[in-house]
Amino acid sequence: MSLEKYFVNNLIDITSKAAISCYPHLGKKDKIIADKSATDEMRKNLNNLSINGEVVIGEGELDEAPMLYIGEKLGNGNGPSIDIAVDPVEGTKFAAENLPGAISVLTISEKGNLFKAPETYMNKIAVGQNIDEDVVDLDFSIKKNIYNLSDFKNKKPENISVCILDRPRHEEIIKSLIEMKVKIKLITDGDVAGALLVSDQKYDIDIFLGIGGGPEGVIAASALDAMNCRFQGRFIFETDDDIQRAKQMGIKDLDKKYDLKEIVKGDSIFCATGITHSEIVNGIQKKGNSFTTETLVTHKSQNLVQKVQKKFSIK
Ligand code: FBP
Repeated sequence: MSLEKYFVNNLIDITSKAAISCYPHLGKKDKIIADKSATDEMRKNLNNLSINGEVVIGEGELDEAPMLYIGEKLGNGNGPSIDIAVDPVEGTKFAAENLPGAISVLTISEKGNLFKAPETYMNKIAVGQNIDEDVVDLDFSIKKNIYNLSDFKNKKPENISVCILDRPRHEEIIKSLIEMKVKIKLITDGDVAGALLVSDQKYDIDIFLGIGGGPEGVIAASALDAMNCRFQGRFIFETDDDIQRAKQMGIKDLDKKYDLKEIVKGDSIFCATGITHSEIVNGIQKKGNSFTTETLVTHKSQNLVQKVQKKFSIK
């Protein structure tokens, strides 16, 4: 079974409209409002779709998110059963500060095929196409991963590029990377887009790694799957509350390392629309009442990986 092609257009419209709704809030130093307007817009439009949808990755759980919470039912109920992962504004700080890198993202799959992830951190690793299975692994040391990749790609370690979030928790990793003279791309936020940089040689990133949001990991995994890249993730459950929630969501082995194919099964459609400019998609361009958006869309069963520009007139 695969997802109908017409969803692609519908979903491009949905992330585009969510991105546009965020536009008036760019640079207003208010992450909450920027996120809320995109969330409201995304929810409204998802509810018009002919699906029996359920949010598996959302803005949080019911007690912490009024909308697009995990478990929320979406759609008009007339259509296939669909799992939905949303991040109406990925890079809320970028949006609030009108900096490059804010995107509006969602992914859908058939029911039961997208990992239902709690709001915790995830240790992640991603590499691009045509890399053998045993070259990099979350269980290898950072040095082993870099040296293996460097051997496999027949490139010196100093010519290997690594993308990683700039966080104190990555101090040791970054120290090792510096020792190996690897080329480091430190990103301040936005690790969905960061992970996707392994998908095309033009971004010059050989490996993405480090700890970021678990929900962002699942969303990135769906696009990487459609682009035949590799990804592994391991959730990090630190507090009793995290552990409790994970168990409630049916996660039995809390230390499990998940491979891409366990996170996203079967067909999926992923859309990322630029809010502000980024390496993967252009940001919104406004002329009068007309907004042009750019969306990176993937549809796994159709081998579709495309950037789509669309114009919307909004009064
Ligand atoms: P938000 O858009 O929710 O602010 O997330 C931005 C982000 O950088 C994600 O891309 C990343 O996964 C996560 O935050 C990292 O979390 P933290 O800032 O706590 O290290």
